[in-house]
Amino acid sequence: MDDRREIHLHVNGVARHCAVATRQHLVDFLREDLGLTGSHLGCEHGVCGACSVRLDGQVVRGCLVLAVQADGRTVETVEGLTDSGAARDLQAAFIARNALQCGYCTSGMLMAAAELLETRPDASREEVRLWISGNYCRCTGYQAIVEAICDVLAARRSAAALVGSAAAAASGAAA
Ligand code: FES
Ligand code: FES
Repeated sequence: MDDRREIHLHVNGVARHCAVATRQHLVDFLREDLGLTGSHLGCEHGVCGACSVRLDGQVVRGCLVLAVQADGRTVETVEGLTDSGAARDLQAAFIARNALQCGYCTSGMLMAAAELLETRPDASREEVRLWISGNYCRCTGYQAIVEAICDVLAARRSAAALVGSAAAAASGAAA
């Protein structure tokens, strides 16, 4: 019996039409069929976060989602996130804080941190720690990762405050 199915999806903004095995996981499809090897396989049962990707904008474990479940949907991997430039400051902060050593967890950490930055711009240090607790790192001890994310949160808040003050000044001048 043929257990392959055709799927249509968008991956990092590119339309894809592929035949996949019905039991193939999304992360395996991305890595093996599309050559997007930025998402890693660690535990393969939803615990470590190394395989994190976005599905319709929400971060999911690529090892817990079947490729066929992505049919008709949009997927973003760490390659898409970094190529877009949306995480440039986050990547720079990881380097500045030495928040990676072997780098195996880093793509998942970046996906999780980018989601936090977008959805919780006022997150506290404690909330950052809690947010990334679902992503395992065997090397860094987490402190440098937390510092890097907090640096970006603070920098983005300052930039937003500056834009807000400039807009208020401009509307006051125009009144
Ligand atoms: Fe998917 Fe660990 S490989 S959560
Ligand atoms: Fe090695 Fe995190 S840097 S697992």
